[in-house]
Amino acid sequence: MKVLFVCLGNICRSPTAEGVFRKYLAESALADKVTVDSAGTADWHTGKGPDPRTCEAALKRGYDLSKLQARQATAEDFHNFDLILAMDKSNLANLEALRPADSRAELDLLLQRYDLPRSEVPDPYYGGEQGFEDVLDLLENASQALLAELQERV
Ligand code: 4NP
Repeated sequence: MKVLFVCLGNICRSPTAEGVFRKYLAESALADKVTVDSAGTADWHTGKGPDPRTCEAALKRGYDLSKLQARQATAEDFHNFDLILAMDKSNLANLEALRPADSRAELDLLLQRYDLPRSEVPDPYYGGEQGFEDVLDLLENASQALLAELQERV
């Protein structure tokens, strides 16, 4: 099972999702059955590490994002991943436009999939520190739900 998290820039939300879910996976029985990656629908930050504010907030909760590098999502991803999870509706629309006709990958809006109180992970890029904490809170809840789902499926 291969899971891809997608946001806009791949420097705030989706690398956070990757780091959080990777840690939960490593502590679970699924560690060697599931692989995780993240990407952005835009190519603005390709090759760069996550935003320093993202790294700092994540590290305070024990998630090390320092080795991640941004990349843009591609049509190929729809052949290489089983489950592609978008952070917001705009990311989802961009992915739908990128999706090849013969793709069998499942594409979904991460929070909505689990009936969490919010349906989108808000973009923290232009806001203050609290936005990064909110992203972590939302993604910790979603990652627990995703892990529970995969424990049933894999
Ligand atoms: P992300 O946040 O999609 O969560 O990585 C953003 C990062 C960069 C920009 C926008 C959103 N930007 O405009 O450069």
